[in-house]
Amino acid sequence: MSIPIPTGVPELLRDLIHQNAGIYFDNSRLDTLLDKLRDRVEARKCPSYLDYYYILKYEEKGDEEWLRVMDAFSVQETFFWREAAQLQALVEVIVPAWFKSSQNPLHIWSAACSTGEEPYSISIALHEAGLGYRPIHIHATDASESALAKARTAVYRERSFRSLPPLLRTRYFESTPQGNKLRTELLHPIDFQRANLANTAEITPFASSPIIFCRNVFIYFSPEAVSRTVALFAQHMPAKGNLFVGASESLIRLTQKFEIQEIGDAFVYIKKDIA
Ligand SMILES: C[S@@+](CC[C@H](N)C(=O)[O-])C[C@H]1O[C@@H](n2cnc3c(N)ncnc32)[C@H](O)[C@@H]1O
Repeated sequence: MSIPIPTGVPELLRDLIHQNAGIYFDNSRLDTLLDKLRDRVEARKCPSYLDYYYILKYEEKGDEEWLRVMDAFSVQETFFWREAAQLQALVEVIVPAWFKSSQNPLHIWSAACSTGEEPYSISIALHEAGLGYRPIHIHATDASESALAKARTAVYRERSFRSLPPLLRTRYFESTPQGNKLRTELLHPIDFQRANLANTAEITPFASSPIIFCRNVFIYFSPEAVSRTVALFAQHMPAKGNLFVGASESLIRLTQKFEIQEIGDAFVYIKKDIA
């Protein structure tokens, strides 16, 4: 049965989601936005999309319905060893440089970790590089509770392994009745928490990390939303902090606070040494 969509309501929903999640749907994709919300509109027994708009508008961002919305908009397309040149830059150059100049524990934040393949790849790469004994804390956050629940199980299907070298798969995964389980006991523990990149209070506790991976999420954001999030990173990260974004994401026109540097085959945004 089709649910009534009063005129102007797709745009209202689009603007509300943009404001609270950073994710932006242009006019040609408003049908997709409505499709993604359909199950929620039905679950809340709303007579029309306008009634659902009012539920969202008057709930706080962290409230139950917004958590369901973030699940509905979560594109959990990710895999181990994605953009491996960045992992190489991390373990061969950036982490050794940190411990050369500091005895302090190092914090690494995976800011849109999805189902966990990214932070676990970081952890595997550190271990492979002989850095497993170093005091390193890996924080992994995502706006989607359903993604985080999968990440915490550390059990993966075949498609997650498409880029992982077979030797690493043999070394770090075991076959269990549930599926291919990562042997997490070999690695730095990862602290998975929910945080929305469009919510200042939720991401501020992580943003002072000197190394941030925020990859393949800005492709869903508007340029303003990317600028807001990156400005917050810049406000809290230490000078010379390292920010990794996805290969198809560029910050060049969106921030003056970082400069791009090539390390091996990877591009890294380095926070400038200015206030
Ligand atoms: C394509 S995955 C990227 C996973 C990983 N970073 C990678 O590069 O493979 C995008 C993730 O961004 C998350 N996401 C979307 N909007 C977000 C937001 N406002 N705050 C935090 N995470 C968000 C989604 O839930 C999804 O898990």
